[in-house]
Amino acid sequence: MSVYVITGVSKGIGFELVRQISEDTNTLVIGLVRDKAATEKKASLKQAAADTAQIIGDRGVDYLVANGAFPSHFDAYDPIGNLATKPQELEAVCSKLFQTNVVGNIHLFNLFLPSVMQGKVKKVIAISSGHADLDLINALEVENSALYAASKAAMNTIVAKFSAQYKRDGVLFVAVSPGVVEVGHYENVLPEQIEGLQRFMGKIAAYAPHFKGLTPVAEAVRTLRETWERLSIEGGFAGAFVSHFGNKQWL
Ligand SMILES: NC(=O)c1ccc[n+]([C@@H]2O[C@H](COP(=O)([O-])OP(=O)(O)OC[C@H]3O[C@@H](n4cnc5c(N)ncnc54)[C@H](OP(=O)(O)O)[C@@H]3O)[C@@H](O)[C@H]2O)c1
Repeated sequence: MSVYVITGVSKGIGFELVRQISEDTNTLVIGLVRDKAATEKKASLKQAAADTAQIIGDRGVDYLVANGAFPSHFDAYDPIGNLATKPQELEAVCSKLFQTNVVGNIHLFNLFLPSVMQGKVKKVIAISSGHADLDLINALEVENSALYAASKAAMNTIVAKFSAQYKRDGVLFVAVSPGVVEVGHYENVLPEQIEGLQRFMGKIAAYAPHFKGLTPVAEAVRTLRETWERLSIEGGFAGAFVSHFGNKQWL
């Protein structure tokens, strides 16, 4: 039996991961959803780790998937220079991004590592974003999502640092982008945001002419899982940041 712990399973990719993985009766899936009040008290993850240890006993965790994240909309459609008119919101969003997407995952990794060490597979997968790839930003001049991208880049660095420490114990830490996935993020785009969205989509089309639009979440999750099965320390992926294809092709 394989044991999975996955964060951010209330909706989107996390929800679909739990749905697909739990179809296999030979798996035990523990999905974590945030309790906003407890999150504010910073006690929820510690409790979740203790509760998980109770459920799984000495079986350990095979796959720890850091999926939950704050997908900021504030910076999603505008170049960074345009955010200057709202400095307070910029600061608040940066703090929330760093706290959720970086610090939250540091706590997650530290708290669950003893269970991962007990597991057989020993894979820690952080769901990242192609937005964090410097070569892609520079080649396509991707202006939007600067703050979100920076939080994911910081998370990728943290993943590499955990890998540097725990690779020798056989734990694979890896950051994987899921591609551009349909989870309803663009359902409430405001008229003034449409231009920025179209600019971004135009750049995607130039980068990947085969791209036919947002990937349905079920398909994206299947691809993601197939890829993380292939990733290993022996294959050279310890601490790496890769796409859903397991390479640097982001779409
Ligand atoms: N969809 C894409 O195209 C895409 C592309 C690149 C990367 N990603 C990454 O894929 C992962 C899943 O995102 P998604 O697309 O499925 O988005 P989503 O549908 O918005 O789901 C995000 C999940 O993260 C949780 N979350 C949000 N803020 C949180 C916080 N402050 N603390 C703890 N949990 C929080 C949400 O819980 P609540 O319901 O409580 O808010 C939700 O379960 C994220 O890491 C995202 O960055 C997605």
